[in-house]
Amino acid sequence: MRGQDRFGVSAMKTLLAAIIAGGTVLVSGAIYAQSTQSAVQIVPRVTGAAQPMSEIPAPALPRAITDDKRVMRNYPEQPPVIPHSIDNYQLTTKTNRCLECHNREYTESSGAPMISVTHFMDRDGQMLADVTPRRYFCTACHVTQTDVRPLVPNTFTDMKASGRSAP
Ligand code: HEC
Ligand code: HEC
Repeated sequence: MRGQDRFGVSAMKTLLAAIIAGGTVLVSGAIYAQSTQSAVQIVPRVTGAAQPMSEIPAPALPRAITDDKRVMRNYPEQPPVIPHSIDNYQLTTKTNRCLECHNREYTESSGAPMISVTHFMDRDGQMLADVTPRRYFCTACHVTQTDVRPLVPNTFTDMKASGRSAP
């Protein structure tokens, strides 16, 4: 009977341990689920309400604003947005349509604003004769605009209201 007793006690212990471990997993699982749930509530889903794995037709691309009016920058270092169409402008390692108007030597005939002096500097601040490779792919920083409702709310205020200016 001693053997049986011992078996009983150890079985009991194992059972208890399993219950405790299971409980911990359940509780931490619940906490995790709750925290991810509240995170989802705070951050709006940019994917919309659709099921992640479902197939939905892609909405038509909104038309770009092409009024040719240069847009004020929201802060001095902002890459200005593109106020004209860039449809079918080739931008590859071999061809850069943007530079055919915006590079220094073409601005006289194109009337386009020249790429600024920073676009000629390499990462050591050395001035190059042509656009620096760091600034070759224009659309990494410059984008066209569309007249659509923002996906997420935006409380941006102009830096005039929040920044310091010279006394
Ligand atoms: C056919 C000539 C031409 C081409 C090609 C061209 N642009 Fe322009 N771009 C202009 C002109 C002219 C302006 C001045 C505003 C206007 O008339 O649209 C301008 C304005 C801009 C501005 C606004 C500058 C500012 O200070 O507000 C940006 C940014 C710009 N272009 C980027 C690009 C990029 C990027 C490409 C290539 C994808 C490109 N452009 C191709 C002619 C051109
Ligand atoms: C790494 C980001 C970046 C890339 C790539 C880039 N730009 Fe810019 N661009 C800027 C920023 C930031 C400014 C404004 C501050 C400055 O001049 O550096 C600017 C300014 C400009 C301006 C306004 C110049 C002026 O004096 O008003 C034009 C035009 C322009 N970029 C065209 C281009 C073209 C064309 C290309 C591609 C050959 C290009 N940029 C690539 C970041 C970039």
